[in-house]
Amino acid sequence: MDSNSITIFSPATVANVSCGFDVLGFCLDNIGDKMVIKTTEQKGIYITKIEGYDLPFEAEKNVAGVSALAMYEHAQPDFGFEIEIFKNIKPGSGIGSSSASAVGSVFAMNELLGRPYSKTELTNFAMKGEALASQSEHADNIAPAIFGGFTLVKSVTPLDIIQLPTPKNLYAVILHPQIEVKTSESRAILPKEIPLKHAITQWSNVGSLVHALHTEDYELLKKSLVDVVVEPYRSQLIPHFESVRESALTHGALGCGISGSGPSIFSLCHGHSIAQQVAKAISKVYSKTNIDFEVHISEINTEGIKVLDRY
Ligand code: HSE
Repeated sequence: MDSNSITIFSPATVANVSCGFDVLGFCLDNIGDKMVIKTTEQKGIYITKIEGYDLPFEAEKNVAGVSALAMYEHAQPDFGFEIEIFKNIKPGSGIGSSSASAVGSVFAMNELLGRPYSKTELTNFAMKGEALASQSEHADNIAPAIFGGFTLVKSVTPLDIIQLPTPKNLYAVILHPQIEVKTSESRAILPKEIPLKHAITQWSNVGSLVHALHTEDYELLKKSLVDVVVEPYRSQLIPHFESVRESALTHGALGCGISGSGPSIFSLCHGHSIAQQVAKAISKVYSKTNIDFEVHISEINTEGIKVLDRY
């Protein structure tokens, strides 16, 4: 082992991207958690510090611990790992809080072990942690956190991730109402079956969105950022969602939808000045309500999770 301590930045992510429920996602740049992972002589996984939010210290009950244990049991090193979590992403925010934790521990451990695992294998381990939080194994937050940019989860079993290109001048605006929506609950309200005509609209939008990313076609992107399957159900859980969307689109956003399972709302914008206009307009909508909120403007993070320091 060359080093025995590493500090990493684990980014927030937007899953679904309107039409791609459970398959599409992209990575954010300036919102994320910091984690410090150190090797220990004693075997096992130990969570020794959690700052920011009240989360369990027992590895088996903590998302970062569960993904770490999955990798640890596979790697079987003759030493252990200690995990410190500095959580900035509020749990239940809809911007991949549990994924950031799940990904952070396995990415850092892989670095300390000398990178024996591929990004796809890391995604597999991290999905075990994600499943603890959402009671379902999906990878649409984990994949963009690990690979960066836009990703498409082609299949979960076997795991197959496709990296999609990121148009150069694309910005995301995130409005985060300070309420909690549990992923498990916002999955439970979804129908088990959907009408064929909605399925046709949805897969047409996924196809054209992927094409738009490849061709940097912002007009096509705009036409593709539509969700007729999930949003009609979940938007009921997010106060003032329709007003925010209307305002974002009026002020130039290409599209506006629910980030992951909510309550955060994302808008994609062509250029930083439009993103600023949209951020201002949707802040105005929410400041008329009695719900606290945060607004972030972010570039699309094409690098994904990264090492900040190691020694
Ligand atoms: N695709 C997931 C969902 C993302 O929308 O339920 C949230 O973890």
